Amino acid sequence: MDDAREPVRTLLPQDHDTKSLYFLLNSLVVPRPIAWVSSLTADGTTNLAPHSYFTVAASAPPMVSFTSIGDKDTLRNVRATGEFVVNLVDHTLIDHMNVSSAAAPPDVSEFELAGVTPDASRFVAPPRVVEAPVALECRVVQIVEVGNGRMVVGEVLAFHVAERLWNEKDRVDPGLLDAVARMGGSTYATTRDRFDLRRPTYDELVGTE
Ligand SMILES: Cc1cc2nc3c(=O)[nH]c(=O)nc-3n(C[C@H](O)[C@H](O)[C@H](O)COP(=O)(O)O)c2cc1C
Repeated sequence: MDDAREPVRTLLPQDHDTKSLYFLLNSLVVPRPIAWVSSLTADGTTNLAPHSYFTVAASAPPMVSFTSIGDKDTLRNVRATGEFVVNLVDHTLIDHMNVSSAAAPPDVSEFELAGVTPDASRFVAPPRVVEAPVALECRVVQIVEVGNGRMVVGEVLAFHVAERLWNEKDRVDPGLLDAVARMGGSTYATTRDRFDLRRPTYDELVGTE
């Protein structure tokens, strides 16, 4: 590639407050998929909250992680019960997901607040969101504390994937999943503009056939 250097702003974390670093990270690490995490209080109140600090942690056994910034109701529930469900958010669920992000008191169920339907999970006590196209039942494996982050790693005990998402090759069709993702500030991205890129072999690159 041509050397096309452009002016760069270099920031050192120690010169910036927590809030601006949070906004900076959120606008740089994009797009982030959204784990809509359902959990239960020890006395059985359902809780639902979106977490975009969310990714795959391992594929065998399948594990995902989400991070709570500080101690919130979801984190407290997950610590107390060792279980949660990650529901995925498609385009139809954006407003419901957003409502569930309001800081409701612990005794208020965000399922009711957000107008979505809880349904019993098979292997864990927290319910899944019926309207969500995908739900992953998870058991906590580890909670890693780093700075103000509490990264919850959970093993997926069951994947519930809507029948309508599967294509003829028995793969989940990303177009049908229609997932949304979080960007910086209150900006979101769709997954509606996609392209395929085949991974080259080293031989193809250096031409040693
Ligand atoms: C799209 C979206 C993504 C969010 N991601 C996170 C996140 O990754 N970690 C976090 O701590 N809070 C995140 N929040 C904020 C929480 O959802 C919010 O603090 C919520 O009230 C926490 O609920 P709880 O106290 O019931 O756990 C996000 C909010 C939205 C709208």
